Amino acid sequence: MRGACVRVLCKSMSEAARDGGEASRAGGDARAATLDVTAEELRALARLFNDLAADYIGEPDALPVFPETSAGRVAELFGRELPSEPIGLESLARDCAEVLRHSRQNGHPRMFGYVASPAAPAGAYATLLASALNSNVTSWRSAPSATAVEKTVVRWLAEMIGFSGVGVNETCGGLLTSGGSMANLNALFVAHRSKAREHVKADGDDAEARDPSRSGLWNAGAPMTVYASDQIHLSIPKAADVLGLGRENVRVVPSDSEFRIDVRALGEMIDADAARGLRPFCVVASAGTVSTGAVDPLAELARVARERSLWFHVDGAYGALAASAETKRSLFEGIHEADSISLDPHKWLYTPLDCGCLVYREPERARAAFAGTEEGYIKVFEQGEEEAHAFWDYGVELSRPFRALKVWAILCYYGARRVSASIAEDCALAEYMAERVGASEEFELLAPVTLGICCFRYVPAGLRVELERAGGDDERERLSARLDELNARVMRRVQRGGEAYLSNAMLRGRFALRASVTNFRTTRRDIDLTLEAVRRAAKEVISDE
Ligand SMILES: Cc1ncc(COP(=O)(O)O)c(C=O)c1O
Repeated sequence: MRGACVRVLCKSMSEAARDGGEASRAGGDARAATLDVTAEELRALARLFNDLAADYIGEPDALPVFPETSAGRVAELFGRELPSEPIGLESLARDCAEVLRHSRQNGHPRMFGYVASPAAPAGAYATLLASALNSNVTSWRSAPSATAVEKTVVRWLAEMIGFSGVGVNETCGGLLTSGGSMANLNALFVAHRSKAREHVKADGDDAEARDPSRSGLWNAGAPMTVYASDQIHLSIPKAADVLGLGRENVRVVPSDSEFRIDVRALGEMIDADAARGLRPFCVVASAGTVSTGAVDPLAELARVARERSLWFHVDGAYGALAASAETKRSLFEGIHEADSISLDPHKWLYTPLDCGCLVYREPERARAAFAGTEEGYIKVFEQGEEEAHAFWDYGVELSRPFRALKVWAILCYYGARRVSASIAEDCALAEYMAERVGASEEFELLAPVTLGICCFRYVPAGLRVELERAGGDDERERLSARLDELNARVMRRVQRGGEAYLSNAMLRGRFALRASVTNFRTTRRDIDLTLEAVRRAAKEVISDE
């Protein structure tokens, strides 16, 4: 029935196009140059890209995780002269196949590096459709359906992670972004402008002249400070730099043995800073640190922020979607108290890049910040809400792609329950890896597994004994440095071997092999094979020494 609907829609569209085309040709307004293609050429293009994509998606482990290639080889293949004439479909197909072959395969079930997930097929095909439509999702009037889809998708995501629900943050809203970094930048901007206005107002009469949106930071008074743990993602200090706040004004709070922020130290640091004239304005929590997946105690951080009237931002770019998994929900208690939260569908909703998301508890505060004045947003609001909606009021970007269709397609095609079950399974696999690591004499687990990340290192038997017997700090340091060097070499060898791919984390100055599972294809067998590949690589590295 649905298929019939689609065919009817397509038929009426193509009839209309044909009639329109004939009419315009009859009117003599054909172009001397066009990039349009005939119906046959269009089908050939569709076949080419569809076949390539379907073959590729259908065999995710057909190619090594990392290609056997070099910078010279890819430059040879692709560093060519500008083609002034068509190269032909067959050559284009060959080029595309080479692009696939010379890529790192993020969809491979043994790709554990960074936070790289495969594109869920429904999301990949929806991306093609969104590109064909090519809406510029600036506002309702530019893209009515895309705007409605995006607003709905943002609401769904907020609901999935427990940020909103019946009676909770029902008026929250936000936008999709290029990723977590852009979401964090937007959030810090809004946090800063909201709080800076409160500060200058409290300071005296010349509030308008001292508003940072008007006169920059020069007149706005003492430095405004942000608080985050030593595990915070680099996008937060980077955002502070971009916003002119200065990286030093991101105050680094120590984390505990499980890599969660020390709440007491946080409170003390804020109060000490305020006492010496700085102006604390924002606490940033990690809901899944990038190194180990630790989740800060959100409810406690919300309290610390609330008691001091600070903005509370949660960076959940990596981990917040795990709150949709029943097995992990309790870790995120208090998430709904955030003023803003970043989460990345392109990490843990298996959505093709790019797709981050930023949700504001009170979206009108974002509108006030981006309007440049506190009152600016009210004017737009009065015009008639839905049709006046403009995403530029909520983030930095003006021209924006239709990112929401791929999220919509994934959630509608699979259903949220199945997606969350897959996230839970990724987490269970990271726990399985930690078990295997713990059960092996050759490995050492370096951090608790909270979500989908397992950090460990290879420790050869001889070095293990030496470490146990080490007499003092210097000797222990020397042995640890040897282990760091060994594991760095092991990582590079595994990566280049093509069977599995791990990246690393620096944990309290020590090098850890880091496996992040955000892949709906990964199984226990892949974990076993990966640990085997690490053992093999370690033995090769040691025998090369
Ligand atoms: C915790 C955290 N925040 C922010 C980011 C930045 O996200 P993006 O790479 O989408 O900009 C990452 C990326 O890994 C992350 O793990």
